[in-house]
Amino acid sequence: MRKWLIAAAAAAIFVAPGIASAQAPILIKFSHVVAPNTPKGKGADKFKELAEKYTNGKVKVEVYPNSTLYKDKEELEALQLGAVQMLAPSNSKFGPMGIKDFEVFDLPYLLPNEAALRKVTEGPLGKAMLKKLEGKGMIGLAYWDNGFKEMSANKPLRMPEDYKGLKFRIQSSKVLEAQFRALGAIPQVMAFSEVYQALQTGVVDGQENTPSNIYTQKFHEVQKYTTLTNHGYIGYVVVVNKKFWDDLPADVRGQLEKAMNEATAYSNKIAATENSEALEEIKKSGKTQIIVPTAAESAAMRKAMEPLYQDMASRVGKQLIDDVVKATHGVTN
Ligand code: LMR
Repeated sequence: MRKWLIAAAAAAIFVAPGIASAQAPILIKFSHVVAPNTPKGKGADKFKELAEKYTNGKVKVEVYPNSTLYKDKEELEALQLGAVQMLAPSNSKFGPMGIKDFEVFDLPYLLPNEAALRKVTEGPLGKAMLKKLEGKGMIGLAYWDNGFKEMSANKPLRMPEDYKGLKFRIQSSKVLEAQFRALGAIPQVMAFSEVYQALQTGVVDGQENTPSNIYTQKFHEVQKYTTLTNHGYIGYVVVVNKKFWDDLPADVRGQLEKAMNEATAYSNKIAATENSEALEEIKKSGKTQIIVPTAAESAAMRKAMEPLYQDMASRVGKQLIDDVVKATHGVTN
């Protein structure tokens, strides 16, 4: 795969912005792993529409959804090599490339609401985290929302002990790994594109994701129970290859920034509705039984996962965890 990536990167050099001819538009390949009819899918399509409009066709954006170009880990390598220019991986996927800060968003029950999230992403903490990406050859342009995660399996999940011994697919985050270990479950890192089949064939027993991802990937069709835990958050960092971005003509970069700001506002505005509509569709399908945890069950889950805030301090950074907790404490929507 690496050889192939390098060949693709070499080919990409021929369409680099610096040597694009007057007629040939600058090409942005935007790769992502989810369906087009999700918050991220719609955000990427909105960016394409606005980028092409504001640059008067000087830029062409090709969006590749559903891992059609690359799977999770490969897409980050492809971006660094310049084979694609833009991605929006979830916060949970930057750890393997050496940036652990974004895993702070994986801490269970960290963010009580959207306003608390914005305090982090739009404040100094969020900006400082984006800055760290530059050392890895990428620039963080924006934070995009998905939403809150639900748990699913082929058995009802209510209390921490219900998770014991079950295998759960996770994204590549050590915090998520620790979360399932705290519940006595067995976490297994797996690319998003492989989850449906793994659930269907019993390679894993369960998974956690947002309703929009569950619905569009049909996970609910191969999971008998879905529990509305809302225990954690999935969001994205839109990243662009740094060299590509820095080499753009200043006016084009400005137009793309405007397109990105508007696509971000759009995507963040529709995310909650996309998820509630997806949840309604999941319920209507009748393929999975929906469990709404009681207050006592939620409290037990919270308690079981609480040690993560200490245990993950050495991974994510104690200061960062403290700062995020402080910034979000008591924030109401
Ligand atoms: C996942 O891998 O579960 C999700 O992060 C996929 C996505 O990009 O929403």
